[in-house]
Amino acid sequence: MKIPDPHIIVIFGASGDLTKRKLIPAIYQLFVNNHLPAHFAILGTSRTLLTDDEFRQRITEFITFPEGPDLKFLSKIYYQTIDYDRNDDYISLKTRLNDLKINLNIPANYLFYLSTPPNLYDQIPEKLAFANLHLQSDGFKRLIIEKPFGNNLNSAISLNISLLKNYEENQIYRIDHYLGKETVQNLMVTRFANGIYEPVWNRNFISRVEITSAESLGVEGRGGYYDHSGAMRDMIQNHLLQMVGLVAMEPPVVIEANAIRHEVMKVFQSLRPIQPEDIANQVIRGQYTASTIKGIATAGYREEPGVDQLSHTETYVAMKFFIDNWRWAGVPFYIRTGKKLPTRVTEIVIEFKPAPHHLFVQDGRNQNAPNQLIIRIQPDEGLLLKFNVKEPGAGFKVNQVNMDFHYSELGNVQLPAAYERLILDCLSGDATLYSRGDTVEAAWTFIQPILDAWSNDPTIPIYGYPAGTWGPYESDGLLDGEMTWRYPCKNLSDDGLYCEL
Ligand code: BG6
Repeated sequence: MKIPDPHIIVIFGASGDLTKRKLIPAIYQLFVNNHLPAHFAILGTSRTLLTDDEFRQRITEFITFPEGPDLKFLSKIYYQTIDYDRNDDYISLKTRLNDLKINLNIPANYLFYLSTPPNLYDQIPEKLAFANLHLQSDGFKRLIIEKPFGNNLNSAISLNISLLKNYEENQIYRIDHYLGKETVQNLMVTRFANGIYEPVWNRNFISRVEITSAESLGVEGRGGYYDHSGAMRDMIQNHLLQMVGLVAMEPPVVIEANAIRHEVMKVFQSLRPIQPEDIANQVIRGQYTASTIKGIATAGYREEPGVDQLSHTETYVAMKFFIDNWRWAGVPFYIRTGKKLPTRVTEIVIEFKPAPHHLFVQDGRNQNAPNQLIIRIQPDEGLLLKFNVKEPGAGFKVNQVNMDFHYSELGNVQLPAAYERLILDCLSGDATLYSRGDTVEAAWTFIQPILDAWSNDPTIPIYGYPAGTWGPYESDGLLDGEMTWRYPCKNLSDDGLYCEL
């Protein structure tokens, strides 16, 4: 793997939670695994007054060092206080970067990571440009913008316009950490490196696609943010639709940023808009209520700190939609996500049409259950194919069995954290796993009418579901006929017999 050029990573929002939980640990892993060049530095910035040493001290609390603090790593970390509104502070930032550059023998390759509240996503890049820190004549200047990219379609469009005033599209890296997950990338390999799947990956053989991203946690102290967001903005607009894009796209010509993002864009352009009169039936929203989980009393969403006591924010969404193109015409896509569900699991279920001729009938019922391919994103990452076999003995009794692959079987292979992969890709100038501006807008275009209907039409219900259950009953009604959602367990193939949640 190519090591990126020497660089400085500037983290805005360095005293925040994301820096602590994800960014610094990811950069440290890249460092210990020798993916970073000998010359690099991290400059944390935020409003908090801290010295370099105080920031380094904080960092030691974020990382588990196997053999005591790693002084070599800590020596690469610096800190600068900033008032995000003050032009002068960006000039001081430039001076500081210049000093580091000269002292550490690093060219002016700067990655600016915006891990701040979203209202600063246009201001910081603009002020960096004011200090000429966007010009690439002396080295690369790249921005990583955290989610949410906009709070609705209009704000996403405005943010794109504002960024593109000073930066080229290829300097802007809009992060969606789901694309950094090894198993999400494996979706492309499963589809396009195997001869057996692609010929049947279409409306002639697939009866439906189902994507679940369930979380057992609630809002965990993020009530203030979440209550203005909700599951549609927090998970569907980005993570779930990106997975839909990878499941449904046409094979790209090459594995390269624009080729792949172009195919995802075509999928988003083919999403059939959900008409206002269909929203109540095709999109179910829910909110968790107080209950008892495994004997422990659990608060409802409205009792969470930072949440309005009369909040109508959804903590659960299930929806049905169609992709109007040759490959997917008529195939329903069902997606759902929620907080305080029974377990944490993300998986994609491809359900194939049953065998057309019913040879094996028992008690008047067809026995061939449809084949399913389950692509497990997390946990117990792997693939599961469900198919029918003959039960040994007299007659022809058919049973469904599992053929499974678990990443854990690969021995001591450790799946890198999503942020490791994404930060490394950005440092190498590879935007394949980042969202392009137009695809982000296309995803907003699809969900905006739903958000509008929810805020304008008080007759569209928000259903309560007890914390620790699989969401409102009404979401079962989305599925056609006798179909049900697959209710996944923690372990990929433990279904039917014993299920650990
Ligand atoms: C984040 C959302 O983008 O994704 C969180 O803001 C959510 O609300 C998280 O919990 C889920 O990510 P993961 O990687 O734990 O599935």
